[in-house]
Formats: sequence, C-alpha cells, structure tokens
Amino acid sequence: MSKKFKTPTNPFPTTGYYGPEYFCDREQESKKIIQLLQNGQSCLLMGNRRLGKTALIYHIRELLPKDWRYIYLDILPTENEQQFLDSLAAALLQNFSEEDTIGKKVWGFVKSLRPIISFDQLSGLPQVSFQTSQTEKPIRDILSFLAALEKPTVIAIDEFQQIHTYPEQNTDAWLRSAIQQLQNVFFLFSGSRQTLLTEMFTDPSRPFYKSASPIKLEKITKEEYKSFIINTFSSHGKTLGEELAEQVLEWTKCHTYYVQVLCNNLFQVPKMNYEQEDWHTCANNILKENETFFLYYRTLLSTQQWKLLVAIAKTGSAYAPTSKDFIAKNQLGSAATVFKSIDSLLDKELIFKEYDKNGSLYYEVYDVFFERWIQRTY
Ligand SMILES: Nc1ncnc2c1ncn2[C@@H]1O[C@H](COP(=O)(O)OP(=O)(O)O)[C@@H](O)[C@H]1O
Ligand SMILES: [Mg+2]
Repeated sequence: MSKKFKTPTNPFPTTGYYGPEYFCDREQESKKIIQLLQNGQSCLLMGNRRLGKTALIYHIRELLPKDWRYIYLDILPTENEQQFLDSLAAALLQNFSEEDTIGKKVWGFVKSLRPIISFDQLSGLPQVSFQTSQTEKPIRDILSFLAALEKPTVIAIDEFQQIHTYPEQNTDAWLRSAIQQLQNVFFLFSGSRQTLLTEMFTDPSRPFYKSASPIKLEKITKEEYKSFIINTFSSHGKTLGEELAEQVLEWTKCHTYYVQVLCNNLFQVPKMNYEQEDWHTCANNILKENETFFLYYRTLLSTQQWKLLVAIAKTGSAYAPTSKDFIAKNQLGSAATVFKSIDSLLDKELIFKEYDKNGSLYYEVYDVFFERWIQRTY
C-alpha cells in the first residue's frame, strides 16, 4: 500500500508525521526496531513525552517491507477492556481500505463480530463500538484473524501502560497469553510512563515479563539536529547560522517537540537571514502564549510543591533535592516534605527523574518551556 503524505504548512511540524523528509535522524533506533520486528520479536519503545515516540512509530511503518500490514492504536484515551477492543477494531478498519480484496476481508470480519460502526464527523475515520463486557473472545478472534493473513502484521500500541489503569484485574495476563500464541503478528509497544512499563516488562512475576525487547528513546544528538535545522531552513532559501542553531538547541534543551515549536515559529518570521534577536523574539512569544497555562499549573500545586518546582527549574538538573544544602538554599522545609512533593510532582508529570551516564539520579522539569518561564520569572 503506497502512502502519500500531506505537505505540512511549515517544514517544522509540531504535531503528526509528514514523511521522512520532515523527520530528523532516528536512524539507529529505526534500524534496531525494524531488525527486531523482521526477526519476529516484539519491541518496547520507551521515552519521555514529546521526544518523538509516536512519530518514530509512524516512521517505522514507512521502512518496513511494503507488503507488511501495520496497525497503529493509541490507547491513552481508553479506560477499560471494552474501549481497548473498540480501539483495536477501529484501528483495523482505519488501516485497511474497504476497496481492496484484503481490506474487504478485514471489514467483513470486523462486521461479523457485530459492533456498531460509525464514522467520525470531522475526520471521516471509522469508529467501532462493541456493547459487550465479553471482550477477551473478540480480541483473541481479531488477533487470530490477523495471524492467519498471508503477510506479517505489526500492531503498534502506543501509551501501552494505560492497560494498567483498567478496572479489570487480569487484562495483561490474558492479553499476554493471546499474544504469545500468535505467529505472523508482532507488537511494537510504546509509552512514556517508564517506571510502569519497566515494571510490566521486567518483573518476573508479571505476564509481560521479557516479552519485548526494550528500546529507550533518547534525545536526538545536537549534531544531527543542528544539520537538520540548518538544511531545512536552507532548502527553503533561508539562512540560519550554525551558532544560532546551537543557541536554539541549547534553549530548547534539544527536546524534540520544543525544538520543533521554536523552529516552526522562527520559520514564520519573514526573513532570509536570521539574527539572534529573531529567535529571542520567538522564544519570548512562545513563553507569553503559554503563560496562562503555567499560571494555572501553579494553582494546582501546594506552596511546598511549587517552591520545589521552582528550585528544580532554577537548578536545571537537580541531583540531590533532598540534601541539606539544596533544602537550605531553597528554603524547602524538611526532607520529608520534599520527598512528598517530589512524588506528587512526578505523579503530575511536572518533573521527571532520570539517571545520567554515571548512574546518578537527577530530576528535571518535564516541560522545557515551563522551565524556561520559571527561570525567567522567579
Ligand atoms: N525525528 C523527528 N524529527 C522531526 N520532528 C519530530 C521527530 N520526532 C518527533 N517530532 C515532532 O515532535 C512532536 C512530538 O513527538 P511525538 O512523536 O508526539 O512524541 P511522543 O510520542 O514521544 O510524546 C511530533 O508531533 C513531531 O512533529
Ligand atoms: Mg506519543
């Protein structure tokens, strides 16, 4: 199935995937994932939000053999097994055209399960709704159906940790057993909640133990992103010097989404040769546009939590937020309070924790623009 992409209105898109031309690097990661899938192994793609997991999943589809089937579903909005089933069946219909032979088979099969099929008013995409609590059987049937197709199928399930929140107790157990028996169907699981996912896939007592090869998505390297940015501007007749590109990457901390947003804004400036002032203006505007959200976040936090967040933002990478020094310097009260605030900020995804090359733990504000705004304002 050949796929044509729409041309984005701006060569630095900030949502969606527009084909390899607008996609920077990820060569190693793509290669590794393709190789695993082609060897019949499932993968687990993990990484912080907005680093580019979803875009990479779409990119991989382009690199797999053309006759492979590829089904993508994002289960973040699902709250229970029935919605998971709806989402899986909808993904099937969305990925197969009712026009061709194989597509007809798929549609016929989904219809035979007797769900309600409707079409989204805005996107025109098929939606599926099963009015049943008996979800295991239809899900197993769908998977077996795909396994019986002549060509391999990859099912990419984005934000997979979501099944963890379902009220049903043993979703992962029967899902694992359904998946395990399949031939010709491989899975690409992905998600941002790394602690949850790591537990699901590395705890020997859990059903998904060792069922997928983990791949951790890191930031795109400065060098790769720098050439990409410079070349993209230049292919549109615009000049952004090396030094400015470096400053842009520095300010956005090379975090994919934030780099894209700043470059997107910069691209809109009607100029052929950029100066430092141009990206400064864009960055300022971005922070201003987001200020209402940032002020709102603040209302969601207790004074202690807010003080800790400001302290972490000002530190950049906070290695020892519960240490005497850090607490004294930022007047955070007791270590116990700080521990509690850390948990709460992690839970709200306002900060993330990560290990550096030497294995030391540190904390950072999750949203780069929010961090920059705090650094400037407080
Ligand atoms: N390799 C890339 N090159 C250029 N832009 C990218 C790349 N990866 C992601 N993006 C952009 O960044 C945005 C955020 O990425 P996304 O895939 O949604 O992140 P995640 O799924 O990890 O939260 C995407 O909408 C896309 O526009
Ligand atoms: Mg995503």
